[in-house]
Amino acid sequence: MTSADDEATALRDALVVVAGAGGAAGPAVAKTLTEAGAQVVLADHRIDKIRPLAESLNAALSPPHTGRPCAHPMVVDLGDEAATRRWADQLVAQFGHVDGLVHLVGGWRGGTPLRDVDLNDWEWLAERLVRTVQHTSKAFHDPLLAARAGRFVLVSATAAHRPQATAAAYAAAKAAAEAWTLALADAFTGTSAAAVIVVVRALVTAQMRQAEPQKSFEGYTDVDTLAAEIANLWRRPAADVNGTRLWLAE
Ligand SMILES: NC(=O)c1ccc[n+]([C@@H]2O[C@H](COP(=O)([O-])OP(=O)(O)OC[C@H]3O[C@@H](n4cnc5c(N)ncnc54)[C@H](OP(=O)(O)O)[C@@H]3O)[C@@H](O)[C@H]2O)c1
Repeated sequence: MTSADDEATALRDALVVVAGAGGAAGPAVAKTLTEAGAQVVLADHRIDKIRPLAESLNAALSPPHTGRPCAHPMVVDLGDEAATRRWADQLVAQFGHVDGLVHLVGGWRGGTPLRDVDLNDWEWLAERLVRTVQHTSKAFHDPLLAARAGRFVLVSATAAHRPQATAAAYAAAKAAAEAWTLALADAFTGTSAAAVIVVVRALVTAQMRQAEPQKSFEGYTDVDTLAAEIANLWRRPAADVNGTRLWLAE
């Protein structure tokens, strides 16, 4: 098989978990991965956020086209370490392999001057932006190492690199998630697995553009661009992407 063949087949028969699939970025990421030949597990804490997405992906790409569903909606609280571990073990038992974890669980709190920040905001952000990264990376560490080309992808924010006084807790939480992901990359050194950080300032969807046609969304990253860049990570050697930041923002 040539490297061109490898590139074309990188995601065929892969199983990729999209964690937080019910948010703004989830549909584009899931669609791009399934169109490249992967099956996706759509994970979120509410079924109503992921079932319609799974149904539309399966209607477009599943039997009779491929003979199997391409999207599997699953409810899990990724803020619960034991539940995340149990679910990861079940996925390995059910599918035999897990080739990727795209972490999309987000959330934002801010707008308050630093001296007045309510540290309950920090707790809320740390639970979503940091703990879910810790839980998923621990639970999928071994399956990603065992995969042909395991990938862990964190979507981070420019705020982690240019913290603003009115969003200190958010910036600190995203910076912590980045550091954790780089530590995972260190654990993956010299293997076929890679942990990668993709940096955006803000995301924009087609629905957002439709809702505000007069707005330019300058500096935003389109979710389709984000999805294409994420899918490309399976087409590049682990050594080239592991521990790197892919900037999709100025
Ligand atoms: N959107 C942006 O402009 C922007 C900017 C910079 C960086 N990012 C990053 O890009 C990524 C994707 O952003 P996004 O806007 O698509 O994220 P999001 O909508 O904030 O979160 C994605 C999904 O995760 C769910 N979720 C929250 N806690 C969960 C838990 N404990 N277990 C399972 N699911 C949970 C959310 O549900 P609920 O909505 O019910 O909470 C939501 O459906 C995130 O990492 C975000 O930090 C986004």
